[in-house]
Amino acid sequence: MTGVPAHVAIIMDGNGRWAREHGLPRTMGHRKGVERIHPVALACAQRGIQYLTLYAFSTENWRRPRAEVAALLRLLGTMIDDEAQTCLRDNIRLRLVGSVDRLSPALQQKVEAAVSLNAGNTGLTLCLAFDYGSRDELVRAARALVAEAVTPEDVTEEAISRNLFTAGMPDVDLLIRCGGELRLSNFLMWQSAYAELHFTDVLWPDFGEQELDAALAAFAARSRRFGGVDGGGGR
Ligand code: FPP
Repeated sequence: MTGVPAHVAIIMDGNGRWAREHGLPRTMGHRKGVERIHPVALACAQRGIQYLTLYAFSTENWRRPRAEVAALLRLLGTMIDDEAQTCLRDNIRLRLVGSVDRLSPALQQKVEAAVSLNAGNTGLTLCLAFDYGSRDELVRAARALVAEAVTPEDVTEEAISRNLFTAGMPDVDLLIRCGGELRLSNFLMWQSAYAELHFTDVLWPDFGEQELDAALAAFAARSRRFGGVDGGGGR
């Protein structure tokens, strides 16, 4: 038995299909998706999970139609203001993985303000992956090491981890993807090297405690060997 994962990551897929099924524009699906973020974070906190990382916008999502990107950026702006307050109320720490560089200065400021307002909270860390991609993250880590002029021997797993957006966070224990697709889409690939994977057809706007508990039950029943043998200990 594996117990409760310390770090859960979710690929929040299916907003577009949810909207289509309800005869609504795609952006309504995203709006509905944003509404699921806080309840799911709270449910994770209540179950003893320490880190929840949500894939909100990938480095590839900039290729979506301009109007959809603009709608997602607007949603980030309103969501981050709301989250700043609800996280404070619920003792949830907010963190961003990914880059804010391509956001407007005003949006960058909002994000930074929300993160710093909640920096002292001691409960779950809610980590929003925005303009995030694993390959981009690894390229940045490699560049950082080159900039430090490290010797080849100093290029270690630890040195790379320390230069990722997720520095200081534990590896992903459980990665959930909703929306029925079976792929990682450039999400936390280094950090998920030994994650247990859980896929569900449920679309993100319909994702709730029932689906979370199903994923946690499946996780608890897994035997994690981290490349070793049963009972041989983990990393
Ligand atoms: C896509 O569903 C999902 C995303 C682009 C990421 C998740 C986004 C949200 C929950 C809303 C935005 C959040 C913030 C904070 C701005 P999809 O459009 O790929 O759905 P489909 O596969 O059904 O088309």
